[in-house]
Amino acid sequence: MTFEYIKDNYSVWHPFTTIRLMSEYGIEIVGGKGIYLEDSNGKSYINGFSGLSLILGTKNEEIIDAIYQQLNKLPYCSMFSMTNLPARKLAEKLVEITPKGLDKVVFTTSGSESVEAAIKISRQFFYIQNQKQKKHIISLQDSYHGTLYGAFSASGIYSKEEHEIYGPVLPGFSFIDSSFYNSSQNISYVSATKLEDEIKEVGKENVSAFIMEPVLGAGGVIIPPKGYISAVYEICKKYNILFILDESATGFGRTGTMFAMEHEGVTPDILILSKAINGGCLPLGAVLVSNNIFNQFNDSDSILAHGTSQSGNPTSCAASLKTIEIIQRDNLVVNARIVGDYFINLCSELIEYDIVSDVRGIGLMIIIELTNKNQPLTTEETFNIYLKLLGEGLITHYKKNRIGFFPPLTISKEEAKVTYEIIKKVISEYEGR
Ligand SMILES: Cc1ncc(COP(=O)(O)O)c(C=O)c1O
Repeated sequence: MTFEYIKDNYSVWHPFTTIRLMSEYGIEIVGGKGIYLEDSNGKSYINGFSGLSLILGTKNEEIIDAIYQQLNKLPYCSMFSMTNLPARKLAEKLVEITPKGLDKVVFTTSGSESVEAAIKISRQFFYIQNQKQKKHIISLQDSYHGTLYGAFSASGIYSKEEHEIYGPVLPGFSFIDSSFYNSSQNISYVSATKLEDEIKEVGKENVSAFIMEPVLGAGGVIIPPKGYISAVYEICKKYNILFILDESATGFGRTGTMFAMEHEGVTPDILILSKAINGGCLPLGAVLVSNNIFNQFNDSDSILAHGTSQSGNPTSCAASLKTIEIIQRDNLVVNARIVGDYFINLCSELIEYDIVSDVRGIGLMIIIELTNKNQPLTTEETFNIYLKLLGEGLITHYKKNRIGFFPPLTISKEEAKVTYEIIKKVISEYEGR
């Protein structure tokens, strides 16, 4: 390995990271350009894990300029009884680019915080209507909605041990099966009626919302079968339950449409956005709601008791306005679809290797699953592959037996081909071919 190890006198405690591995194998990123990142040794890497945020590449001069201009005008402004131009314009823009039926925007600072706000909104929406017991939230077993306690409680992905360590989690949450596919990966055997069963079990008078990701990202890029989202939406309507769609990871082009919900043509009651909203440059999240929800609050003078000092930060919002302008002007959504399809097709050829058991994805949200003699690779084995890819100049995301590839949306076909060749070389060498 050529990278400089982070050793003693290192004071950062990293999230979701084994400290021992980080101190041995961590790299320090100092800069980069386009889809590339550069470390402190001058080594260059393809950024295959943009945090699902850095969609415009490492250093976008137009975003830098937009941030600089805003810092010069008004770097900060509280949203408590005041507004600011970038926040107002961004709210208008988000309403314009999302499907009809999402009319008002609550600004937050992250995906996790957006989930907290969405949970509060859904509970208060019913409280205002004197349905005070409608509190329960249902979500999917493999879902990830974030790290704060509400989002943690709504995420099906956390292990029993994590529940034991951090618990008690919040009461009033339950999960339904998300194993949509059988082992041959093509037949849906979990139907949306699981949601109906759960609603009946909890009692429709107790349930306020069902929350899901349109593609279960952290759960392993699990794409619900066609028709699933429409079916759960209908069930929510039938039982007077709000449908919350968490597009923190999928929003702004990642799946080859501006929002993943467009694949099914479903508009939720509440939409959660974050990450790519401003190209990952500054913390920002948003929750969009329908006029129907907003008017319940407005008509009864009910305040939403949610907000932080950084809600609607004008600099974060200015960066977002420029990001959306660039996505639209440069047709990055189409690029994500074309390059994504191309890359998934290339990687599908890797199935001929014994250790590759599945390649799946949508747009530029792609997972390669690794197996040895029908047993999923251990996290340690997968980590070794991750390290080899890193050595070859490719940063990926690894989890369990999966290698994830989520590059900036600006990636070209040529760059996708180079990425594929690196993956092929590493897998080939791993198998001793
Ligand atoms: C679907 C989804 N929701 C929420 C979050 C949490 O977002 P943040 O990390 O900005 O808090 C994530 C992050 O990965 C996510 O993928």
